Parts: sequence; C-alpha cells; structure tokens
Amino acid sequence: MDEQLRTEFNEWARAGKGESMERGHRPVGEQAIARMNVGSNARVLDVGCGSGWATRLLAGFAINGHVTGIDISDEMIRVAREASQSYANVDFEIASAEQLPFNDNEFTHAFSMESLYYYRNISKALSEIHRVLENGGLFCAVVDLYWENEATHQWIDDLNVPVELLSSEDYRSLFIDAGFTNIRDERLLDPRPVPDDYTSGSFKSREDFVKYREAGSLMIGGEVKK
Ligand SMILES: C[S@@+](CC[C@H](N)C(=O)[O-])C[C@H]1O[C@@H](n2cnc3c(N)ncnc32)[C@H](O)[C@@H]1O
Repeated sequence: MDEQLRTEFNEWARAGKGESMERGHRPVGEQAIARMNVGSNARVLDVGCGSGWATRLLAGFAINGHVTGIDISDEMIRVAREASQSYANVDFEIASAEQLPFNDNEFTHAFSMESLYYYRNISKALSEIHRVLENGGLFCAVVDLYWENEATHQWIDDLNVPVELLSSEDYRSLFIDAGFTNIRDERLLDPRPVPDDYTSGSFKSREDFVKYREAGSLMIGGEVKK
C-alpha cells in the first residue's frame, strides 16, 4: 500500500476535503453515472471513493444490488462509512486499486472519479478492475487533470504527491492494454455558472478556471469481453 498517498489523503479527509470534493465533482460525476445504465440488480465498485458520495448515488440505482467503495485512505473510508449509515446496500473497504481484495467477476460495473492519475501503477489498477468485472461489465472513469485540459496542469506543482499527466489517447491505450473493449471517451461539462468574483480555490485566476470548465472533464469508458 502506498503510504505517501494514504498519508496525504488522510490529511484531506481530516480537513473536510471529502465533502468539498463532492460539491466539486458531483455535477459531472452524475452525468457519467447516468451514462452507465446501472440497473437495480447491479453489483458496482467505486474505485478511490473518497467520502463515498458516488457510492451512495450508485446505490440509488442498484437498489436490489450492492455497491462497494474502496479507497487507499483509511480516513476517507471512515468519513464514507459515517455518511452511509442509512444505506443497506453499500459497504466500504480500505484497499489499493492496484490490489483489489475481490474475486474475479464479482462486479457488473465499476466507476472512478478523479482518482486514476494518482495511482503509481495505472496499468495494474486497470488490470485489477478488468479482473473483478464480469463478462459484459463496464468501467467508467472521469479525470479532470489530463493533457488536453491545460489549466489543470498547475495542480501538478501544488499537489504533495506525484501524479500522471496523460492524454485521452494515453488513457485509451492503457484501457486497451488492460483488456477493455469498445473504449469511448467524452468531455463532460459542469453546467454551473462561473462566479464573477472567483478569486481563489483550485486555480490561480478566474481565467484559468474558465479554461478548465471549457475543456471539461474527460470520461473514459470501456467494456469487458471475457
Ligand atoms: C481526488 S480524490 C476523489 C475522491 C472521490 N472519488 C470524489 O470524487 O470525491 C482521489 C481519491 O483517490 C484515492 N486514491 C488515491 N490513490 C489510490 C489508490 N492507489 N487506490 C485507491 N484509492 C486511491 C484517494 O485516497 C482519494 O480519496
């Protein structure tokens, strides 16, 4: 398990960033999840679930199924469990995406929001996600930090952990190498207006924030044929 990532994201969880990430990611995450056609009996994995907001959202679709959120940060998992007590069909585990504690073919769908580029070994994580998905399964990932979204590159120096800066073509190749088929990518836009008085936050200027919003989030989806 990567201690540097765990320590950093434990700090984020203690600082309340799990909840603020929900506010930031949800408008785009909802669009991605809507495209996944998660049925009532689905068994879903949320990889790098953070505070578990997407896990709970997915649980509303998989009402007769089950959703499992995993995260490398034990503090994020604590926050996620705390917020999910009223959900009968979700559970959370501390685990690395590169070593998933599940049997082959356990899930019908997998989702991951703003998590892939932190992994030390994205190829291994994608192979693991492919392994735990059944034949006909679907994986859908969303990232904001990617090559074509130039405004987000400023995050690289600000983050306390190393990240992978990949293009949509790089992600496509990694998905193919891990065994996924029918890969599709799409840009998803956050529909919220950019406040006139945006001064600080994740970007150095309002102009950068506007550029980030215009480029959108990169969604990559791939199917499993075994
Ligand atoms: C930017 S946060 C996004 C969290 C959540 N998906 C959301 O949208 O709010 C990235 C998450 O990925 C987790 N993470 C980073 N590396 C990981 C790994 N190798 N395995 C599992 N989770 C990891 C972090 O602990 C963190 O909670």
